[in-house]
Amino acid sequence: MQDTLNAIVAKASAELALIGARPGFEAAKARYVGPNGELTAVMKQMSSVPKEQRPAAGRLINEAKAALQQLLDAALGRIEAAELQAQLGPAIDPTLPSPDAGPGTFHPLTLVREEMCRILRKVGFTVADGPEVETEFYCFDALCTPADHPARDAQDTFYLPESARFANVSKKTPGEKYLLRTHTSSVQIRTMLKGAPPIRIVSPGRVYRRDTTDATHSANFHQLECLYVDKGVTVRDLKGLLDYIFESLLGKDTKTRFRPHYFGYTEPSFEVDLSARHLPKVNKEWIEIGGCGMVDPAVFSAVGYDPEVWSGYAFGMGLERLAMLLYGVDDIRYFYQNDLRFLKQFA
Ligand code: DAH
Repeated sequence: MQDTLNAIVAKASAELALIGARPGFEAAKARYVGPNGELTAVMKQMSSVPKEQRPAAGRLINEAKAALQQLLDAALGRIEAAELQAQLGPAIDPTLPSPDAGPGTFHPLTLVREEMCRILRKVGFTVADGPEVETEFYCFDALCTPADHPARDAQDTFYLPESARFANVSKKTPGEKYLLRTHTSSVQIRTMLKGAPPIRIVSPGRVYRRDTTDATHSANFHQLECLYVDKGVTVRDLKGLLDYIFESLLGKDTKTRFRPHYFGYTEPSFEVDLSARHLPKVNKEWIEIGGCGMVDPAVFSAVGYDPEVWSGYAFGMGLERLAMLLYGVDDIRYFYQNDLRFLKQFA
């Protein structure tokens, strides 16, 4: 009996391995374990087995039955997997680019940022970078805006918890707080502390303010900062550079004008207004585009430059404002919604 059972299991094993679909499987199953199957036939012989051999024979039959069941389960598992695969179709590689996606386009803010950097590189500026998480020293103190200064309130921002740690941003004093930078002017200080004058940098980047979002405000927006430090720099140089930048970006007929203002880190300080043929798009004759001025001698002292020797100008402006003007966008929120109908227009 053992030989017969072994032969049945071996045959079933060879046969089932070749079966790939359900009809073949059902037929094979019937052939072995169905009412007229080969194993069933052996089981029927039990009645003729002498009584004392029955327990041993029964064990053998049970073993063969379990082995057959395992083979059948394995074959059915394979068939089901193949059926599922057929339903799903060919395997996909989720890391491949979508066949429906065209090439991406640059975000309008990227376009304006790159164009401004290109214009400034032409006259010798290099791009400088700074962290978005800043310390009070770089964002305010070194820019002559001490903790009790009213100008600081206007720029109060998102402070990080005392426990926050940033390995790439070191504090000057242990009590100092981390904050999301309110302006890119902090890069002025970082750049000056890093090296000796002359300096000519442009630093575009993301900034944060505790502003309520509306058509012209966003708690997170972008600025572009410039700093020029050399000997004998005058307001005329500053005005000349601003005229050059805006004429390059917006066309020859573009005009700039200065209005006296206060910034802690420049003296004198101005707000810059712009008049360009793009303005009808936003229904205005002049719009304010940024702040600027001659670097305050106190700032030079704070970074260890001799204010008797060095002079310079600095300015900062909002990139969104520029992009809105350039492209006639009337709501700042469009820039952040990632609506392809908007973004594709800048392809
Ligand atoms: N940091 C100012 C702001 O965010 C803009 C600014 C004003 C930048 C005067 C300057 C500057 O570099 O000299 O409103």
